[in-house]
Amino acid sequence: MTTLFTSITLGDYQLKNRVFMAPLSRSRAVDNGIPNELMADYYAQRASAGLIIAEATAVDKKGLGWLNAPGLFTDEQQLGWQKIADAVHEKKGHIFVQLWHMGSVVHPDFLGGELPVSSSPVKQQVSLKTPKGRDREFAVPKALSQLGISEIVQQFSQAAKRAVAAGLDGVEIHAANGFLIDQFTRDGVNQRVDEYGGSIDNRLRFMLEVVAAVCNTIGSGKVGIRLSPSNSVWGISDSTPKATFSRAVERLNQFNLAYVHVLEPKPEVGKDYLTPLLREKYQGNLVINGGYTKKTANSALDNNEGQAVAFGTPFIANPDLVERYMHDADLAIADSTTFYTSTGKGYNDYPTSKLPYKLMSEV
Ligand SMILES: Cc1cc2nc3c(=O)[nH]c(=O)nc-3n(C[C@H](O)[C@H](O)[C@H](O)COP(=O)(O)O)c2cc1C
Repeated sequence: MTTLFTSITLGDYQLKNRVFMAPLSRSRAVDNGIPNELMADYYAQRASAGLIIAEATAVDKKGLGWLNAPGLFTDEQQLGWQKIADAVHEKKGHIFVQLWHMGSVVHPDFLGGELPVSSSPVKQQVSLKTPKGRDREFAVPKALSQLGISEIVQQFSQAAKRAVAAGLDGVEIHAANGFLIDQFTRDGVNQRVDEYGGSIDNRLRFMLEVVAAVCNTIGSGKVGIRLSPSNSVWGISDSTPKATFSRAVERLNQFNLAYVHVLEPKPEVGKDYLTPLLREKYQGNLVINGGYTKKTANSALDNNEGQAVAFGTPFIANPDLVERYMHDADLAIADSTTFYTSTGKGYNDYPTSKLPYKLMSEV
């Protein structure tokens, strides 16, 4: 029987368990997107995860519209990530970082008034906190030129190079949740008439170019990608999600990636649920995510619905989530008011369980 505690080979790595930490933006990179000691401590506390997928991290200043989110496009940011990689490795953990371009979800306030970019000049229905306040109205983005597209592909590849140079184990390409790559993939936004728009293969072109460039730079065994086939975050939509995302994973088969990560909570019976179809079409490891508990995760693994399970909110308040699952200890509930604040409160001050067990890092 495969359980959360069965080891797994994923790309270049042999991982100790299948309890992965999902990427979680926590807004603690308060100094120019540079990862700091607080963040190193937070990630090291969670190093018993089979794999930590660190938070969405910008590949370029123009793709960053989230207050105090980290980047990986300057030497200082790279050094900051090195501290995190070292701290996690010291505790025998593995860590990838999620590479991110927000596209049209970057408010002009972050760009000195300039317009953000997207596949097409389509305004997604969003409002976001910016340096100038809350609920700032969004502008219609600029459609990227072909040159602009190639520049961003290069930025992903450059950030991946920096990730490996910093000692991180790999990268997860953020192709989910309505951000730039998703703005190309899904036809609710993409209205292009060139080779990046129209047919499904054309809409997947940008994603596949990013994947190819990143794999060429750091090797496919250090690369994962995240998809969210059925959510509508930031007003994103697609008219044929089944066809779009099954084709996406079919095309991803050629890369021999470490994994494909699908964010899709199981809906009520009778509603569309694409993960089983993606599992069928994809030949490599599938990481599944969205509302799992120890029980539902173990049964999903045993049914071969995915090969590992990523947990998001449970990791916020339970740094020792793996040990708690192993020993059936109670879980603490995260305080959502401190998700995006800037200090250690509600971040690296969640205690380990009171049960008398040793943390895996001490064994
Ligand atoms: C505070 C918070 C921050 C998040 N940040 C990211 C992120 O940076 N990148 C991403 O792909 N998803 C992000 N997510 C989504 C989570 O990775 C995950 O998909 C979601 O929490 C569902 O998993 P869960 O039910 O185990 O919490 C975030 C979620 C939360 C609650």
